[in-house]
Amino acid sequence: MNEQLISEAKRYIEGLFAGHSDGHDAEHSLRVFSNAMKIAENEAECDIEAVALAALLHDADDHKLFDTKDNENARAFLNGHGITGSKADFICQIINSVSFSRNRGRKPETIEGKIVQDADRLDAMGAIGIARTFAYGGKQGRSLDDGIKHFHEKLLLLKDELNTDPARRMAVERHRFLEEFIEHFNSEKQEL
Ligand code: NI
Repeated sequence: MNEQLISEAKRYIEGLFAGHSDGHDAEHSLRVFSNAMKIAENEAECDIEAVALAALLHDADDHKLFDTKDNENARAFLNGHGITGSKADFICQIINSVSFSRNRGRKPETIEGKIVQDADRLDAMGAIGIARTFAYGGKQGRSLDDGIKHFHEKLLLLKDELNTDPARRMAVERHRFLEEFIEHFNSEKQEL
């Protein structure tokens, strides 16, 4: 894997997400990258560089944040680093298979897509997932109860929608912590 390229991709997303602090930020992309690398260690048959770049760039054209079309931001980085044609298309195809809302019930077709999707979903679970839910909810003017509703509609479902065994193992503790958090939240609420 071209380490220089990876550090440049990290710098690119840091610039792109500068000023964002709602859980869809450069830190999220870095954690997804790190999760993806851990999952990929156990999957011999994958294009590790494509996984790394797709993980780092997976939110570079997120419609919640950017008004771009056809993976414009991701392609700008890739093309600027000599990645064009079918290689760039492959990375964008991985990116497009990641989104939870756009792919309900649909599994990515490639192992690379499966890895990056799992890596993104792991970051919506556990303590980080909780922090991100309320950070994003606050920005949208949502209440704490709305946040808890989001747990039931999405976060608690994720463990059963993962694609790979390493991600399923990484998800166990994160899922348990989500459940424990809700239990505490509900019992503290009843004390009102
Ligand atoms: Ni994401």
